[in-house]
Amino acid sequence: MSEEDQIDDAEITFIGPASVHGRRRNDTVVMGAVQRRLEAMYPYQKGHWQRVSFEASAVGEELDLSHEALEQLRTCAYLMDIGMIDESIHSFVADSTESGVDYMQNAAIRRAVERHPVLGAKKLEELGFPRPTVMAVRHHHEWYNGWGYPDGLSGVAIPLLARILMVADAFVSITSERPFRSGCTPAEALDEIVGYAGIQFDPWVVPALEKIVTQKAHATNSLIDKTLDLAFEEDIEQS
Ligand SMILES: [Fe+2]
Repeated sequence: MSEEDQIDDAEITFIGPASVHGRRRNDTVVMGAVQRRLEAMYPYQKGHWQRVSFEASAVGEELDLSHEALEQLRTCAYLMDIGMIDESIHSFVADSTESGVDYMQNAAIRRAVERHPVLGAKKLEELGFPRPTVMAVRHHHEWYNGWGYPDGLSGVAIPLLARILMVADAFVSITSERPFRSGCTPAEALDEIVGYAGIQFDPWVVPALEKIVTQKAHATNSLIDKTLDLAFEEDIEQS
């Protein structure tokens, strides 16, 4: 098999059914394929899902989540926007990004983008991901007060993993540069999130983020790069 065929296989694992060529789904391959595709389609979001995963798992640890729940949370952070791979959503967003406009200000584009949690959950279900992963992805844009989408769930009716993702995703987005605005400082982002505790964000989850941002290392691209360097150094030392 040529190298090109092998790359195609990885892509098929993402777009295809739970089993490909008689082999079981490999979550790492799916996560990698989703990252590559999303970063190619939305270049200004490069590293976004890694940072969300870093932040969400720190929040999850602060909340004493089980090992299994933390693993699911990390996976969900990488996969939550899988629905954004949909070509019609991408073309809407790309047109708007080119003109330097925040797509959330345009009702038609916003409606298209708001389909991504449902499309994503459906795709993950087809791929045979466990129900907590599918549900966390479906509900990662629900607001604590019920104003979110796609189902307008509120409070603890929203799966816990989704409530954590909502907080981590917001923190990373607010502190990131976008084509239509510059990034805020972590302290400014935290102020905004604390201000929306009980409205958009779970008031039980927000203090955990607050603790991380004020007392511990939080996700920056350079910290994640350093973590990756350290991981490789450890591998080298062990080999
Ligand atoms: Fe999303």
